[in-house]
Amino acid sequence: MRHIAVMGYGTIGSGVVEVLERNKEIIAKRVGDEVDVKYVLDLREFPGDPAEDKIVHDFSVIEKDQSVSMVIETMGGLNPAYPFVKASLMAGKHVATSNKALVAAYGTELLEIAKEHNVNFFFEASVGGGIPVIRPLYTALAGEVVEEITGILNGTTNYILTKMDKAGETFETALREAQELGYAERNPEADVDGHDTCRKIAILTAMATGHEVNYEHIYTEGITKITDVDFRYADAMGTSVKLFGSSRIQDGTVHAFVAPVMIGKDHPLYSVNDVYNGILVKGNMLGTSMFYGCGAGKLPTASAVVADIIEALKNQDHHVEMGWDSENLTISAMNSISF
Ligand code: HSE
Repeated sequence: MRHIAVMGYGTIGSGVVEVLERNKEIIAKRVGDEVDVKYVLDLREFPGDPAEDKIVHDFSVIEKDQSVSMVIETMGGLNPAYPFVKASLMAGKHVATSNKALVAAYGTELLEIAKEHNVNFFFEASVGGGIPVIRPLYTALAGEVVEEITGILNGTTNYILTKMDKAGETFETALREAQELGYAERNPEADVDGHDTCRKIAILTAMATGHEVNYEHIYTEGITKITDVDFRYADAMGTSVKLFGSSRIQDGTVHAFVAPVMIGKDHPLYSVNDVYNGILVKGNMLGTSMFYGCGAGKLPTASAVVADIIEALKNQDHHVEMGWDSENLTISAMNSISF
């Protein structure tokens, strides 16, 4: 039996517990052992919940328990996620996280600590919800020099833009729905102001290049200024409005931006609607590939976390090389995209 702990029992954390239970046979087969959620760390109590008796309020219980070989971080934000994840890795525990704020801000350091302690720090769920995109950049696309990544990387804003465009909803109504459906961040400003997309394009670019990308240097504009007038013009021009995160890698420089764009019907991302995300990756040999799927929400995102759990527990005794180094790429503004 492999014991793990889940930190944060919100939408994603409870989804992870649910996926582990619903798919337990296939997961046990793939890990080679049963996976047991020994602790759930949360400030709240959950009377009547299947995880009720696993709730702890004190992180040190998890940190000190040597039978816990892996910690899942689904709390979001930087504090206390950062100190808890760091301490978990230093205690020799594998970590999987869905937290893109954490990965974008401290990924380089946490990857180094994981390597030093011969454990794994995985973050498949940090970009694209359930879409497999982080690990494929490192494995299936390992023979490529990635030249450009362009994507719709935020489910909440894509849901809002789709509802404003196709159902005539107001921004506020569509945002409220996205929150009720569990797509939005606790503070939805991160979604609508483009910061979530910015962190995700930085993580993807770091994965593709193998070097750190400072997301704070990426020009970022969200969707709060988009009105029904924009949709009327877009419609008249046969286009749609989408929030893009994009980076082009050229001679060691990353040209990047996050902003709403108008795209025509023949664009591969035109039909990416609602909570779906679409990511175009251009490699120098393969040309362009598209990753498409459910970009946010409880079970899709939890599925990606569970894939990380399986990968880490299969590699229980060693560190799997994946991620980027601390060489910092220069970021400059980008004024055109080739997709
Ligand atoms: N708030 C994020 C989104 C969650 O809407 O895409 C998934 O990363």
